[in-house]
Amino acid sequence: MKLYADSADTAQVIPLLEDGLIRGVTTNPSILARDGLSRADLPRLYDEFSAAGAQEIFFQATGGSRAELRDDAEAIAAFGHRMVVKVPATPDGFRVARELVQHEVRVLLTAVYSLAQATFAASLGVDYIAPYFGRLVDSGEDGLAKVSNMTRVLAPTRTRVLVASVRSPNAAATLALNGVSHLTADVPVLLAMMIDPVTEQSAAEFERVAAG
Ligand code: G3P
Repeated sequence: MKLYADSADTAQVIPLLEDGLIRGVTTNPSILARDGLSRADLPRLYDEFSAAGAQEIFFQATGGSRAELRDDAEAIAAFGHRMVVKVPATPDGFRVARELVQHEVRVLLTAVYSLAQATFAASLGVDYIAPYFGRLVDSGEDGLAKVSNMTRVLAPTRTRVLVASVRSPNAAATLALNGVSHLTADVPVLLAMMIDPVTEQSAAEFERVAAG
């Protein structure tokens, strides 16, 4: 299992990276805005996450046209070797992803909602796709079946399914049970995954006994 923080909040993310608890960080423009940041902050964030030990850093390219999207993706890719460039899974995004793969840029196609999109993404040889589990469920889909099918169909390919919009430890566990091996979640969800009340009780009892 590989876990990533879906956050640009350096105060929350950097301690997890420094403790070696997560493999890397994923962000998108909405996450940056939530944390009061913008595209201009990405070079600094890359340096801070790298210094803290991130093995993979995912930033999203934006642009009003295919050319702008490609130019932004190439600029982001140039931050360094830990970079995986996120591109939205739109028709322009697929075209840009193909160009990036040809230039040996690591790519994640994001906001993938259908098995057809997942299949197309894998045909281009991108490293990752990111389906949004919580948003699939919100829209009335059987999100678990959909993500499980993507995982099964892509298993023989080089494209891995990195599931986003994972909003609870229970969602993470259910996805893991269904074959998901890469998850990104906000820091409070990651922290909650380490906690169980029965463990807390047992640990407290051990401490009481040990203290005499
Ligand atoms: O990375 C995707 C994430 O930002 C969406 O999460 O919980 O807003 O659906 P959520």
